[in-house]
Amino acid sequence: MPALFSDLSLRDLELPNRLAVSPMCQYSCEDDGLPTEWHRVHLGSRAVGGAGIVMTEATAVEPRGRITPGDLGIWSDEHATALEPITEFIRDQGGVPAIQLAHAGHKASKRKPWDGNTPLSPDEGGWEVLSPSPAAYPPFDGDRPEMKRADERDIQAVIDAYRDAAERSLEAGFEIAEVHAAHGYLLHEFLSPVTNDRTDEYGGSFENRTRLVREVTAAVREVWPDEKPVFVRISGTDWLESRESWDLEQSVRLADSLAELGADLIDVSSGGIHPDQQVEGGPNFQVPLAEAIRDGTDIAVGAVGGVTEPEQADALVQNERADLVLVGREFLRDPYFGLRAAGECTDDEASAWPVQYRRAVR
Ligand code: FNR
Repeated sequence: MPALFSDLSLRDLELPNRLAVSPMCQYSCEDDGLPTEWHRVHLGSRAVGGAGIVMTEATAVEPRGRITPGDLGIWSDEHATALEPITEFIRDQGGVPAIQLAHAGHKASKRKPWDGNTPLSPDEGGWEVLSPSPAAYPPFDGDRPEMKRADERDIQAVIDAYRDAAERSLEAGFEIAEVHAAHGYLLHEFLSPVTNDRTDEYGGSFENRTRLVREVTAAVREVWPDEKPVFVRISGTDWLESRESWDLEQSVRLADSLAELGADLIDVSSGGIHPDQQVEGGPNFQVPLAEAIRDGTDIAVGAVGGVTEPEQADALVQNERADLVLVGREFLRDPYFGLRAAGECTDDEASAWPVQYRRAVR
């Protein structure tokens, strides 16, 4: 059995394989964060295509946590009801539906990427965004959105919104809840000294900067059933070595404390906090971060970034560099990447294919 198709159980959840569709914003909602036909077909195709886990895009836990007005949301029961047919379809294909729970923090209230990615003014439908420390916001081209320094009530509201969103995700049929704490969005903004200059119990020391992520993870775990796993996506480093920033050593420490709170897997990405980041992409570019967290803790890790070939993904598991492989852009280029992997890595390609498509298997 190739490593990519070997068993992996997280709590009581058995994964069909170790390939996951990485969360990818589609900016395709037309009505207040509700999924459209686009989401159904997009996520459904990847489930047909053999992904073990199909994860939604960053899904906002409250309206002001959306990057753009087109982002998916889970802040009302109506959202949960609308997502249910999607999770049911993924499960019918043998996949595991997962949701990434997100708050965009000071990166919210923007135009969609294909409309320029620039801030929306209030008369264009823009909204006030939440930030740990507006003054620490990195340099920015163009107008800034109105920024609010998160006070105690805002922080409690964010924790509550994550907890409620997790409850609704469960109602919607998701099997995995992932807390998005990477890429310069709200939770990462608290983690990193680059964007957090607070002097209260949410800023300063490692303990204080990690408090919100720990509180959010604990709140999600509180309502997420014991038999189902919780993931946390972090940026393993800010890639800003020349200044005080978030780095791999802190990531290892954080991973340990998240494991103690009941997280089951750390999904290891990187960057996104500041435009000065020094990062070189390429195949497996973030894998060393995942591997270091795996080696330094007892928690499972997911590796992501620059994985484009089934053999490459298989080798990451085989060589014990990661427990799970998340694939983003290659799953956009080839929705059937999971079936391709079954063809290249197993002797029984046909059984991975949907029965409706088996006449196409050579
Ligand atoms: C992303 N990425 C991303 N990450 C995340 O945590 N939440 C998200 O909603 C998004 N949205 C998103 C949209 C699109 C169109 C792309 C291409 C990427 C990052 C993504 O999950 C992944 O980590 C990176 O793309 C690196 O992996 P690949 O693409 O090299 O496999």
